[in-house]
Amino acid sequence: MSATITHVLGARPNFVKAAPVIRALAALGHSQRVVHTGQHYDERMSDVFFVQLGLPEPDINLGVGSGTQATQTADVLVGMEREFLDNPPSLVVLYGDVNSTVGASLAGAKLGVPLAHVEAGLRSFDNTMPEEINRRLTDQLCDLLFCTSPEALGHLAREGRPDAAMHLVGNPMIDTLVANLDKFDAAAARAAHGLGDGRYVVATLHRPANVDSPARAAELVRALHEVAAEVDVIIPLHPRGRATLSAAGLLDSERIHVVEPLGYIEFMSLVRGATAIVTDSGGVQEETTLLRVPCLTLRPNTERPITITSGSNRLVTNEELAAAVLKACDDGPYAGELPPLWDGQAGPRIARIITTWLAAR
Ligand code: UD1
Ligand code: UDP
Repeated sequence: MSATITHVLGARPNFVKAAPVIRALAALGHSQRVVHTGQHYDERMSDVFFVQLGLPEPDINLGVGSGTQATQTADVLVGMEREFLDNPPSLVVLYGDVNSTVGASLAGAKLGVPLAHVEAGLRSFDNTMPEEINRRLTDQLCDLLFCTSPEALGHLAREGRPDAAMHLVGNPMIDTLVANLDKFDAAAARAAHGLGDGRYVVATLHRPANVDSPARAAELVRALHEVAAEVDVIIPLHPRGRATLSAAGLLDSERIHVVEPLGYIEFMSLVRGATAIVTDSGGVQEETTLLRVPCLTLRPNTERPITITSGSNRLVTNEELAAAVLKACDDGPYAGELPPLWDGQAGPRIARIITTWLAAR
C-alpha cells in the first residue's frame, strides 16, 4: 500500500470542507491524491471552488454526473473501486453526506482500505433525506471519525462506534470561512447585484422536500413573495430547483432577484452584508452562525442543532417565514456564544491526528 492519502470530492460542500484539510496535510509533507467523482460538474458548482479555495486540480475525474439516487451512488461505487485498485491509498478521506461520500466509503470498505470521515456523527433522524442514510452508513464503515460538534460523539457511541475512533476537531467549513474572511466584501456584493443601501435577505434552496414537487415549490414561492413584500430577496439559485420554482412563479415579484449559483467569495460577501438568510443548506446554517447573521432554515429538523443552541439559526415553516424574517431584521445580529473549536484550526487538528494514526500502523 502506498503512503498516499486520497481525498474523495464530489459536490459543492465537499470542496469547501476539504480545502483546509488538504492544505494542513500538505504542510506536514504528506503525499496526496484528489479524486473528483464528477457529481457536481458545472463551472459554477465545481471549478470556481477549486480556483477560489486554492484546491489542487483533481488527479482524476470519474465523470459520474447526475442521476437517480441509485444510479449516481452505484456509478461512484464502481468508479471508486477501480480508482482504489489502480492507486491503493494509505488512507481515504471522505467529507460530509453526499452520494459521492457513501459510494466511496462502500467501495473502500469492501477492499479493506482505511477510511476517515470528516463531519462524522451529525444526525437529523430523518431518513426521508438521502443525506441521513449516507451519513449513517459512512460512519459505520470509517476507521477515523472527525466530529464538528459535541453531540456527534454521543450519536456515534449509541451506534456502536468505538471511542478511540472519534475526534472532536472543530469545523473545516469554518476554517475556510476564517481563512477567507478578509476577502468578503459586502459593499462590492451589493453593488454587483444592484441592491442599493437598503436591507436585503439572501435565500438558498435546493432540498428535494422543498423544490422537487410543483405543489411544495408553489408553497415555498408564496412564502418568498410574502418576504419580498417587505424586503429585497436575492437568490443564487441551485440548478436543482430552477425549473419547478420558476414554473411556480418565483420571478413574479420585482423584489426577488434570482441569479446563477455564486462563487464562494461572492456568495459569502453577499451573506456577510445580509440582514437575514433563508436557507435549507447544511453549510449555510454553520457559516451564518459564525458571521452572526440571522438564519431561518426552511426544514422541519436539522442535523446541526448546535447552530440553534450556539448560533443564529431557527427552524421555520413556509407559513412562519415572513414574520420570522421581519423579527430577525428587528432583532439584529446574533450576539451569543459560538460552538466549541469553531476557530479555524480544524484542518491542522485533523492533519495531526491522521499523521499519528498512520505512523502507528
Ligand atoms: C447534492 C447532495 C446534497 C447537497 C447538495 C449541495 C446528495 C444526495 N445530495 O444535492 O446533500 O446538499 O448536493 O449542493 O448527494 N445539477 C446541475 N449541475 C451540476 C450539478 C447538478 O445542473 O453541476 C442539477 C442536475 O439537474 C441534477 C440536480 O442538479 O440532477 C441535482 O444534483 P445532485 O448532485 O444529484 O443533487 P443535489 O441536489 O445537487
Ligand atoms: N455556496 C456558494 N455559492 C452559492 C451557494 C453556496 O459558494 O451560490 C457555498 C456555501 O459556502 C455553502 C456551500 O457552498 O455552505 C455548500 O452549499 P450547499 O448549500 O449547496 O450544500 P449543503 O451544505 O446544503 O450540503
